[in-house]
Amino acid sequence: MEFGAKRSCLVLSISILVSSSFLCVQANLNNVISWRIPRNNICNLYQGSWVYDPISFPLYESATCPFIRKEYDCLKYGRPDHLYLQYRWEPIGCDLPRFNGQDFLERLKGKKIMFIGDSVSVNHFESLLCLLHAAVPDSNITSTTENSTVTVTFQDYEVSVMMFLSHYLVDIEEEEIGRVLKLDSLKNGVVWKDIDVLIFNTWLWWYRSGPKQPWDYVQEGDTIVKDMDRMVAFRKGLTTWAKWVDSDVDTSKTRVFFQGISPSHYNGNEWNETGVTNCGNETQPVSGSVYPGGSPLALSVLEDVLSKIQKPVHLLNITTLSQLRKDAHPGSYNAFRGMDCTHWCIAGLPDTWNELIYAALVFDY
Ligand SMILES: *[C@@H]1O[C@H](CO)[C@@H](O)[C@H](O)[C@H]1NC(C)=O
Ligand SMILES: *[C@@H]1O[C@H](CO)[C@@H](O)[C@H](O)[C@H]1NC(C)=O
Ligand SMILES: *[C@@H]1O[C@H](CO)[C@@H](O)[C@H](O)[C@H]1NC(C)=O
Ligand SMILES: *[C@@H]1O[C@H](CO)[C@@H](O)[C@H](O)[C@H]1NC(C)=O
Ligand SMILES: *[C@@H]1O[C@H](CO)[C@@H](O)[C@H](O)[C@H]1NC(C)=O
Repeated sequence: MEFGAKRSCLVLSISILVSSSFLCVQANLNNVISWRIPRNNICNLYQGSWVYDPISFPLYESATCPFIRKEYDCLKYGRPDHLYLQYRWEPIGCDLPRFNGQDFLERLKGKKIMFIGDSVSVNHFESLLCLLHAAVPDSNITSTTENSTVTVTFQDYEVSVMMFLSHYLVDIEEEEIGRVLKLDSLKNGVVWKDIDVLIFNTWLWWYRSGPKQPWDYVQEGDTIVKDMDRMVAFRKGLTTWAKWVDSDVDTSKTRVFFQGISPSHYNGNEWNETGVTNCGNETQPVSGSVYPGGSPLALSVLEDVLSKIQKPVHLLNITTLSQLRKDAHPGSYNAFRGMDCTHWCIAGLPDTWNELIYAALVFDY
């Protein structure tokens, strides 16, 4: 779902087909987003249901991927059921293009793609690396770490996939009083703004408290407080990010995505299993296209902030389709044996998120 300027292009293409494709293409001339095949059908890729498809899935064998961290490598840590690997996302009214790693690398030749966010972004990043590696396993792939950025480069295609860890997008700074979360400061933007494709995400850390909270105070303008309503803080932090996109990102060169809220599964009431308190016994998705637990409030806050951005930002609206996947978390099948119903197994659900990125980048959905 596209916000901002891009949307007017979409609206036009519904009403006046011929001139609209001209307008959309013209907007892409002389800039780096011209690798896209112009949109030829209008379809909401984010509404649909999960279909069992053991022929097409998984898209790769996780055992052959060298990029999966211990937290997400479920098969390696003994997950016995494999059904969760074999579901395909089927949008209502169209097909999600199958991920083609070679095609992705060829079309994005010379470009840099950066994931910016928390450990859920790492999930997304590692899945993309596995998908690309599976397509060109014998090619020259190098990896470096610099300025808190991990860069994996597919040398033969000059494509770099990067991960910048940032829990809140806005800054946390050490000061005399302690660690201060600065809701209106986003200094790392200078590192991000010239990358060709940016995929942002933040949510998981906004409700952290106690020893897991990585800040002592929160600041907005000249006001410093010990704490505040976390949803209000989330909105303020996102708004700072949105203003940065409008002022600093040249969206004729850089494609901007924001990942929707990635859901956890610790409350069985949400999927009609009263008394269940984790995902440990879940081996199948919720059927149909409606999640009984409804949409999280954080997604409405995100949608509201995105609706006020002037520049085009694509909401990777994965919340509902991920909510349906109560079966796709590591559970206790990770190196630490803790019950993890927040992150996702790789291979698994994040591969679909990357198919959606591929559809948006290449097929202009
Ligand atoms: C891989 O690419 C790097 C950077 O271009 C180069 O230095 C290295 O020699 C290449 N390795 C192989 C095996 O081709
Ligand atoms: C890392 O930061 C330094 C100093 O800001 C800068 O000169 C350098 O180009 C950066 N490296 C990368 C890979 O962004
Ligand atoms: C969940 O329970 C409600 C109320 O009993 C019912 O209306 C709904 O269809 C159920 N949903 C699913 C997915 O089972
Ligand atoms: C899974 O179900 C079994 C049998 O009902 C139960 O003994 C076990 O505690 C459940 N595991 C989790 C993690 O809820
Ligand atoms: C995101 O998806 C949800 C569920 O399909 C939908 O209710 C919501 O309107 C979508 N948001 C946007 C901005 O399209």
